[in-house]
Amino acid sequence: MKKIAIITRDCAGVNAAIRSVVRTACGYKIEVVGVLKGYDGLIDGKFIQLNRGSVSGIINLGGTILKTSRSKRFLTDSGQKQAVKNLHEYRIEGLIVIGGNGSLSGAHNLATQGKIAVVGIPATIDNDITDVDLAIGADTAVNVALDALDKIRDTATSLERIFVVEVMGRESGYIAMQVALAGGCEEVLLPEKESDIEVMCKEIKQGNAKGKSSWIIIVAEGKAKAHDIARLITRNTGFETRVTVLGHIQRGGHPTAVDRILASQLGNYAVEVLRDGQTDICVSMKNDKLVTIPLSVAIQPKKIKVAETYKLIKLLTK
Ligand code: F6P
Repeated sequence: MKKIAIITRDCAGVNAAIRSVVRTACGYKIEVVGVLKGYDGLIDGKFIQLNRGSVSGIINLGGTILKTSRSKRFLTDSGQKQAVKNLHEYRIEGLIVIGGNGSLSGAHNLATQGKIAVVGIPATIDNDITDVDLAIGADTAVNVALDALDKIRDTATSLERIFVVEVMGRESGYIAMQVALAGGCEEVLLPEKESDIEVMCKEIKQGNAKGKSSWIIIVAEGKAKAHDIARLITRNTGFETRVTVLGHIQRGGHPTAVDRILASQLGNYAVEVLRDGQTDICVSMKNDKLVTIPLSVAIQPKKIKVAETYKLIKLLTK
């Protein structure tokens, strides 16, 4: 294999993965090009040369140095055909796709329909890739949200208030569940679990009668809008509420050590398996071992298991 390309989405740890891919490939004297602006850039043939030097000083940076896009054109047949044409024209023999569900679905199409050798690296704060325990970016997102939550708690406690905090995750309750446990939150509303707002309000009133004066309730964006939940709480309990929607801060920031290490391992392994002739797979870490998963499996909707953690959250805040 003489020349490969990398295409990315953005979240913390993606740059560390780019660095690992580039430096591993350089070790094998494989030429590496970066695709600018995601799948839009692949359609437009926007490639830049990458070498050991061009990825220095990026292991600690959030986002992606390659920039990215949510490409509507790549969802079309003509867009995908143009992308394949460009890969052939630039003599690219293998493609490494770093991203979440959408990116990996695109990777699967390029492998199956375009007959391109493709290896995916899961990177998404939603942590919703099937059979992947931890995607790059998820650990940082949880830590960013937790840091914000700790600060919110200072005001919640001082002013004896109820806060409703909305976290990201698309259809996945991963960030919400992790943050609720790590942040000692009283309640978490998850897409993976039925919630009874009336019961929650009853608990708030009972807790207040016993002297409890502040609550933090986490809402996963895929479940409900924090403002709607806050309004229901006020209507049912008579207590004042405040809302914080954490938004895109969760996708940015310096990657945690966990994300940098995972990104370095997966980036290296992706080049190894691509050299090995494997395609239409993504790489992952399972029980401390590097593994591969067919992309056709990885892109299936993942339902995270929440029952045990939810039980623990409730037990510890009763
Ligand atoms: O998939 C990652 C994610 O950050 C989700 O958690 C969120 O719902 C979505 O992307 C936001 O997308 P955009 O950045 O396009 O608004």
